[in-house]
Amino acid sequence: MAAPSQELLRSNPLPADTIQLSVTRYDPAQDAAPRQQTYEIPYRDDMVVLDALNWIKTHMDGSVSYRWSCRMGICGSCGMNVNGTPRLGCSVFLRDYLPGPVLVEPLPNFPVIRDLVIDMTSFMEKLSSVKPWVISNGQEPALAAGEHRQTPAQVEQYRQFSMCINCMLCYAACPVIAIEPHFVGPAAIALARRYDLDSRDHAGQDRLRTVTGSDAIWDCSFIGECSAVCPKGVDPAKAIQQTKFESTLGMLLPWGGVSK
Ligand code: SF4
Ligand code: FES
Repeated sequence: MAAPSQELLRSNPLPADTIQLSVTRYDPAQDAAPRQQTYEIPYRDDMVVLDALNWIKTHMDGSVSYRWSCRMGICGSCGMNVNGTPRLGCSVFLRDYLPGPVLVEPLPNFPVIRDLVIDMTSFMEKLSSVKPWVISNGQEPALAAGEHRQTPAQVEQYRQFSMCINCMLCYAACPVIAIEPHFVGPAAIALARRYDLDSRDHAGQDRLRTVTGSDAIWDCSFIGECSAVCPKGVDPAKAIQQTKFESTLGMLLPWGGVSK
């Protein structure tokens, strides 16, 4: 490991201890298979895994590739597997993995573009497939008539499903996605519920057809890993079970449909 420069040590005091990170390296254009590369970095108690990767990239190996932006659990771009669990790299502290080494891998269930960078194309397509916007039935008052108000209780119906940051941790944790890659998946179903439960929306039946169009939703046995790993308190497992219930209502009752 290259020692930190004296100038850096003066401006940013570090403890003597170090910690090892084992980071997946993979360039599909050159490598036959992914491999793990170990880096030993200066340890600081307030370092998150993203800080460690930034340290490696700045001081040791500029070729390590990963996504990040906000460093505060908001943008959803730093999803990675940390010691086998999908986490946000900016929200998980090295101190929780002492003495190391910390295994850092790309999110499973996605193709890898390079190192920790996964291809999110299918995820984006699944999100847009549920038409994530308010769809009116054309009978609302004209815009000129003013706001289309909702009560706090109406907002509360869908609020938690609206907190998703599209980090894809739930897809990485989902055992159904692992065997049925075409399953529309937890976040997209949670997003569909967000609009289905919106008092201004009238496209619930349409979305229901989309998310139950594949039998894969019935393979979900409510293991709940998606909800367990979600960093924003969204409950996609609940959305999936609600969707199954709505779908069953549609089969059993002539008036069955999406309830608000
Ligand atoms: S539901 Fe949670 S885990 Fe899944 S993409 Fe949204 S924020 Fe991430
Ligand atoms: S960098 Fe934005 S959520 Fe981690």
